[in-house]
Amino acid sequence: MDQYIIKGGNPLVGEVEIAGAKNAALAILAAAIMTDDTILIENLPDVRDINVLLEAISEIGAKVDRIDRSTVRINGSTIQDISVDYEYIKKIRASYYLLGALLGKYKKAEVPLPGGCNIGSRPIDQHLKGFRALGAQVDIINGAIVAKADQLHGSHIFLDMVSVGATINIMMAASMAPGRTIIENAAREPHVVDVANLLNCMGANIKGAGTDVIRIKGVEKLHGTEYSIIPDQIEAGTFMFAAAATKGDVMVKNVIPKHLEATTAKLEEIGCEVEEFDDAVRVVASKRLRRTHVKTLPYPGYPTDMQPQIAVTLALAQGTSIVTESIFENRFKYADELARMGANIKVEGNTAIIDGVPKLSGARVSAPDLRAGAALVIAGLAAEGITIVDDIVYIQRGYENFEEKLRSLGAEIERVSSEKEIQKFKLRVG
Ligand code: EPZ
Repeated sequence: MDQYIIKGGNPLVGEVEIAGAKNAALAILAAAIMTDDTILIENLPDVRDINVLLEAISEIGAKVDRIDRSTVRINGSTIQDISVDYEYIKKIRASYYLLGALLGKYKKAEVPLPGGCNIGSRPIDQHLKGFRALGAQVDIINGAIVAKADQLHGSHIFLDMVSVGATINIMMAASMAPGRTIIENAAREPHVVDVANLLNCMGANIKGAGTDVIRIKGVEKLHGTEYSIIPDQIEAGTFMFAAAATKGDVMVKNVIPKHLEATTAKLEEIGCEVEEFDDAVRVVASKRLRRTHVKTLPYPGYPTDMQPQIAVTLALAQGTSIVTESIFENRFKYADELARMGANIKVEGNTAIIDGVPKLSGARVSAPDLRAGAALVIAGLAAEGITIVDDIVYIQRGYENFEEKLRSLGAEIERVSSEKEIQKFKLRVG
């Protein structure tokens, strides 16, 4: 099993290029099968979740042609199967986007029901409520969601909570449902807008994405297009916090600064300098950072996917911070690991109380999930001594070339898979 070994203490300095947004890409790949024409997708991140979804898409019969690392051509005209294998949904929950895509195009879909996951129970009742409102009959049969309709129709749907997945899934199916659909209390995340933009380039008629009311006029057919995915604001934010926690100076390139505003605001609040350019942000941290309070919220609030990264940074800041997680119930699993590195962090319900310490010390820790794993790497980079992060397979799900990018900023980090490699690293770094 791969691990990261890190010798902490180097401030990160330099420039880093951000890849395409994983969570936009997952939905965009699913949407690409909704036409029989070819879709060319650029700025695709080369991460595990994306590669698994491409396999799932090819498994149901679509043609998937990976032109290079960040470009893929998809043609859905050869799909013979509307049923997705459990193997894929087990590996990535987001294969549930094939439900909306297949239902919209073929009026039937069969996708295994995703189970809970490391960050919480994650029900998908709102997705199903939306499909039913569009006229589909939705049943759970032998662990799979089976959705079918003679014909879909537009509908007025009010989501009970703001859900990125439900908004996108319903938007995909509705774009091919005759009539008008209105999704109220829709998620406003940049990836919702990105998927709507792709669908509109394919001939859909979607208005209001990015606000909490999305209006869709169903069309009969979608057509081919070329599309470039937006930059990943969570990868960008992770590097911004890595710069902050290590007292570094990093230019984060290929970003949309507007998408990073909640992160930027918090970094400034705790004492970093953040400079915005057209498609880059520079984060400089020259002194010990200050405490703050933060609560995760749907966009444009502070993102849950950036919660562990800010908590690690606050673990080293002066004063007592309170971090409240309001989206997922189980997103503090890293707290005990961080405590093993010397952090003073106590979790009570959905709140973590963090008393900043002047330094962390390296330890062997385990990544409990994707973002928490990345946050523990940040902790290792900021800590004194050697940190080993286990279970980095989670991190590889969502960060392209993570260790290479960190190394280019001066980090001493290596991916290792044996005791021998660990010893070699230790000898090298002294
Ligand atoms: C997306 O998950 C992201 N995943 C997550 O990214 C992200 O943490 C999350 O949005 C919130 O921003 C992808 O885009 C693939 P939700 P999603 O539906 O769509 C509840 C990462 O690290 N809910 O917005 O599954 C749900 O339990 C990840 O990249 C229902 O109750 O999240 C949660 O409390 C992990 N019923 C809240 O809504 C539903 O039908 C928001 O979830 C749907 C959601």
